[in-house]
Amino acid sequence: MDLEQRTIDAETITPYFEEYFGHKPTVISASPGRVNLIGEHTDYNNGFVLPMALENVNVVAVAPSPTGKHRWIGSLGDETIELSTEEASSAGDPFWSNYVRGVICMLKRRGVEVPPVDMLVDSNVPRGGGLSSSAAFEVSVCTALAAICGVEISPTDRALIGQATEHEFVGVPCGIMDQFISANGKKDHALMLDCKDLSYSYIPMTDPAVSVLVIDSAVKHSLADGGYAARRKNCEDACAILGVPSLREATLDMLEENKEKLGDLCYRRARHVVGENLRVAAFAKALAEKDWEAAGIAMRGSHASLKDDFEVSCAEVDTLVNLSYHIPSAESVYGARMTGGGFGGCIVALVKSEDVEKVAQEMLEGYREALGIETTYLVTRPGEGARILYRA
Ligand code: GLA
Repeated sequence: MDLEQRTIDAETITPYFEEYFGHKPTVISASPGRVNLIGEHTDYNNGFVLPMALENVNVVAVAPSPTGKHRWIGSLGDETIELSTEEASSAGDPFWSNYVRGVICMLKRRGVEVPPVDMLVDSNVPRGGGLSSSAAFEVSVCTALAAICGVEISPTDRALIGQATEHEFVGVPCGIMDQFISANGKKDHALMLDCKDLSYSYIPMTDPAVSVLVIDSAVKHSLADGGYAARRKNCEDACAILGVPSLREATLDMLEENKEKLGDLCYRRARHVVGENLRVAAFAKALAEKDWEAAGIAMRGSHASLKDDFEVSCAEVDTLVNLSYHIPSAESVYGARMTGGGFGGCIVALVKSEDVEKVAQEMLEGYREALGIETTYLVTRPGEGARILYRA
């Protein structure tokens, strides 16, 4: 994965669309990837998350197909695939097409029939890095297809369509965070979401003195491998033992009282989730007050808990987080943690803006020295959520 950005927008994608299909797109949408600042593995436990949208986007260009069949190109240079309207709403090959097939199926369930379309997809959201390239794809497809069908679908409903696609067509039992922030992201703001009722608020992130630094561990992650589903199961087991509908209803006292009954594994999994919800609240307060030290403490706590209690980090990601304490410019790092589902992917750090490039270079150098791995980074501001870039 490469975190360096290539610009993609309506202007760059249109000539490719014309080259492949011989006519112009009628709708072009863009939806961002995300970096989660804090609140990990809490979404499917009815808890709180606090992500921000990236400036990196998935772009989808569509037009009605003159052939009576769907024709889709997954990324520049790909082969076109052709499908009948019947085929386009059921799972099949190539694998990436399921992200589109799923959305078409979910729209159909809501009474929206998608006519055959020509579609070209391009993206500068790094794949397999825990930055939600899949969610960006699903939400972008849904945004473009709703527009071409002339129907209004709220951002939250587009997020739910993306999540259902992930569950039924991709095979990842994910929560709602990634699709939600891709659909509802707001420039210069982080978003705090209550996953119990999907209520949310925006928190401005405009302090020029602090930057968000994302560093790739260069370890590919896959949430379809079973580790993610196993964590969900541990949390459900803990709920059954505690007799609560979700871990949102659990408290740290409750966990202590039921420590024996829970057993070590479920106890630690639940302790992460309950503690993480408290850390999201602390982080949100710190962000609103621009108390970056306090925000950093919450991030550090989150990482330790994900590593030791939830066990979703890995040696490479831990090396990056440890480096953030020990590089020469460590004093310019407020906090750092793994971000996303885990098992590889990226770390996110809050860093003094004046030193962010220096910190990034020292981190990369330290990582190379420790593990012999060359990697990349991104300094980003909160980007905008899903939008239409062009409509004929
Ligand atoms: C993945 C999932 C999200 C969330 C995170 C962990 O990104 O898609 O729903 O569960 O992992 O916080």
